[in-house]
Amino acid sequence: MKILIVGNGGREHAIAWKLSHSSQVQQIFCTPGNGGTATQAKCQNIVIPVTDFPALRQLIADENISLVVVGPEVPLALGITDYLQKSHLKIFGPTKAGAILEASKSWAKQFMAEANIPTAKSATFTRAEAAKEYITEIPIVIKADGLAAGKGVTVATTIEMAHNAIDRIFQGEFDKKNQSVVIEEFLTGQEISVLALTDGLTIRPLLPAQDHKAVGEGDTGPNTGGMGAYAPTPIVTPELMTHIQQQVLEPTLTNLQKRGIDYRGVIYAGLIISPTGEAKVLEFNCRFGDPETQPILSLLETPLEELLLACCEQRLGQLPPINWKSGVAVCVVLASGGYPGTYQKGKIICGVEKAEATGVKIFHAGTKFQAQNLITEGGRVLGVTAVGANFTEAKAKAYAAVDCIQFERMYYRRDIGRQVFSN
Ligand code: AMP
Ligand code: GLY
Repeated sequence: MKILIVGNGGREHAIAWKLSHSSQVQQIFCTPGNGGTATQAKCQNIVIPVTDFPALRQLIADENISLVVVGPEVPLALGITDYLQKSHLKIFGPTKAGAILEASKSWAKQFMAEANIPTAKSATFTRAEAAKEYITEIPIVIKADGLAAGKGVTVATTIEMAHNAIDRIFQGEFDKKNQSVVIEEFLTGQEISVLALTDGLTIRPLLPAQDHKAVGEGDTGPNTGGMGAYAPTPIVTPELMTHIQQQVLEPTLTNLQKRGIDYRGVIYAGLIISPTGEAKVLEFNCRFGDPETQPILSLLETPLEELLLACCEQRLGQLPPINWKSGVAVCVVLASGGYPGTYQKGKIICGVEKAEATGVKIFHAGTKFQAQNLITEGGRVLGVTAVGANFTEAKAKAYAAVDCIQFERMYYRRDIGRQVFSN
C-alpha cells in the first residue's frame, strides 16, 4: 500500500512513523512534510502545498496511492476530501460538510444545542455593538467564529479586554469573510483532549490526553498550538470515558448522521472537566490533535493503517478493541523563542541523534534540512516523546533527552503534566 500524508507538523511525522512500521505499508509520501519525514524509513517528502488539490491529485495518480491521510484542518475545511473523493480514493478525513464542526464555532454550538451535548452557555453575534452589550460580567470567553490557528480565543479578565477582542475579530484579524463572534461562559476545570475515530457508523475513542496550550509555565501567557502533552491522562477514569462516550461522542455521531453528513476521520473533543467531574465540550476539531497524536500513537499497538482503512471502508465496528502498550507517553515541545509571536527561523539544531540514542522518539514539526544541516523552520520545532512505565519515568526520560538538544533561543515548558502530577 502507498499512502499520502498531507501536512508538515509533529502530528504528521508521528503518523508517518507509525505507518512505516507496518509490513503492509510499502511507501509513504508527505506533502510537504518536514525534516523528520524526510529521513523517516519508507517516507519521502514532495513539496506540494496542502491546499493545492490538483497537484495532490496528480501525485496520487502518478504514484498509484491508495490511502490519503489529511493532517491539518485547513485543507479539510476547504474540501480536500470532497475534491479527492471524485477519484474513488480512500481518504481519512471528513468532507467540508463535516469539517465545519471545527471550522465554525457558531455552527458547532448550534449543533451541540440540538444534540443536547453539554457545553458552555454562549451567544453568537454578527455585529460588534450587540456583542459588547451582551457582556456584563468577567471573566468571559471571546471566540472568533472561523479557523484561527489556535489564536482566535481570548479569555477576557476585564471588560476592556473583551471589547478589544471583539474589535479585533470585526476588524478581520482572523477571517475577513467570517466576522462572527461567539461569546461564551468561562468554565474552570481540567482541560483534556479526547480524540475518537469514526467511520460514520461507530465511534471509538483513543487514549485520553492532556495538552498544554499556554506558552508559559504554570499555564500562563498566550495560547499556542500546544506546548506538550501526555497520554493516557488519569483525569479520564474508565467511568468518565463511558460518560464522554454516551454524552458527547455518540450524540455527535448521531447528529452528524441526522444531518446527512458522512464523517470518516477523527472527531477530537476538547473538554473541560469541572471539579465535580462534569464534562463539557470547549471545542471540536475535525482531525488528529498536535501534539496529542505524538504520545497517543507512541502507545498504539494496533497497526494504524488497519484503523484508518476501517474508518474509510466503514467497518470500524467489526474490528477487535484497539490495543495499547501499558505505561504513559510524555511529549515535550521544543519551540523557537518568541513563539507564538514572531520568531526567527534557520537556526541549526544539534543533538537530535544523541537524544534519540537515549530511547525516546523525536517527532519533527518545524524543521528542514539545508546543506546537510537540520535547521528550524517553524514555531514548534520538535516533539521529544518518551514512553515509560508511569508518568514520572516517561517525564524523566523526555526531559533527559531534551537536555541533549540545542538550537539558538530554544524554548520549552518544564512542567508538562503539572495539573495532575506534582512536579
Ligand atoms: P478553543 O479553541 O475553543 O478550544 O479555545 C482555546 C482555549 O481557550 C481552550 O483550550 C481553553 O484553554 C480556553 N477556553 C476556551 N473556551 C473556554 C471556556 N468556555 N472557559 C474557559 N476557557 C476556555
Ligand atoms: N493541540 C491542540 C490542537 O491540536 O488543536
